[in-house]
Amino acid sequence: MDNKVSYDKIAEQWTTVRKDMQVSKLVIDFAKQIKPNGSILDIGCGSGLPITKYLCDKGFAVTGIDYSDKMIEIAKKSSIPANFILSDFFDFTISEKFDGIIAWDSLWHIAKSKQESIYPKISNLLKPNGLFLFTHGNVDNEHIDTMMGEEFYYSALSEAEIVENINRNNLVMEYSYRNFTEDGSHRTYVALTKKI
Ligand SMILES: C[S@@+](CC[C@H](N)C(=O)[O-])C[C@H]1O[C@@H](n2cnc3c(N)ncnc32)[C@H](O)[C@@H]1O
Repeated sequence: MDNKVSYDKIAEQWTTVRKDMQVSKLVIDFAKQIKPNGSILDIGCGSGLPITKYLCDKGFAVTGIDYSDKMIEIAKKSSIPANFILSDFFDFTISEKFDGIIAWDSLWHIAKSKQESIYPKISNLLKPNGLFLFTHGNVDNEHIDTMMGEEFYYSALSEAEIVENINRNNLVMEYSYRNFTEDGSHRTYVALTKKI
């Protein structure tokens, strides 16, 4: 089971479907809280549509990272003026700190054994008062699911563990929603945290 290979296989189809989707109002609200021309890291940016493009259109300096060669290839060929980098989140190193970080539908693909390591890395990448918006699962589990004919691995910690990890890493919870639904799409858990 290799999500990277599965995303490479579905990248074209994913882009066709995802490009016409609305940007979540939570992403729009997150962007409103980042200072003008601020810097944003988009973790698991896919091919950049619609979120990376939206953030660039709003004037932010966006770095988009994704470990799928094909997703990054499509993103780089697009006219989206982000700095797209082919990288696994855990291999990504940069001296810059960001005003905001978004991980939309990507953290649930990280191995369960690495879930706890997400939060210190995020905290280290954020400037003081920097915001981190993410979607996730909120029930302790690992499972395989099928999307666009390919299999994908998913994992999550319990909500209590996620909150503990946030608190342990100089992040404070601004809000969290369970079962957030808009425009017919559903997210199990969405949270906005701030670096202190
Ligand atoms: C469901 S897609 C979401 C893409 C985009 N955020 C969006 O909203 O359309 C998940 C993306 O996360 C990427 N991804 C998953 N785990 C990753 C990791 N550890 N490092 C970098 N990218 C990752 C996948 O390659 C895929 O493009």
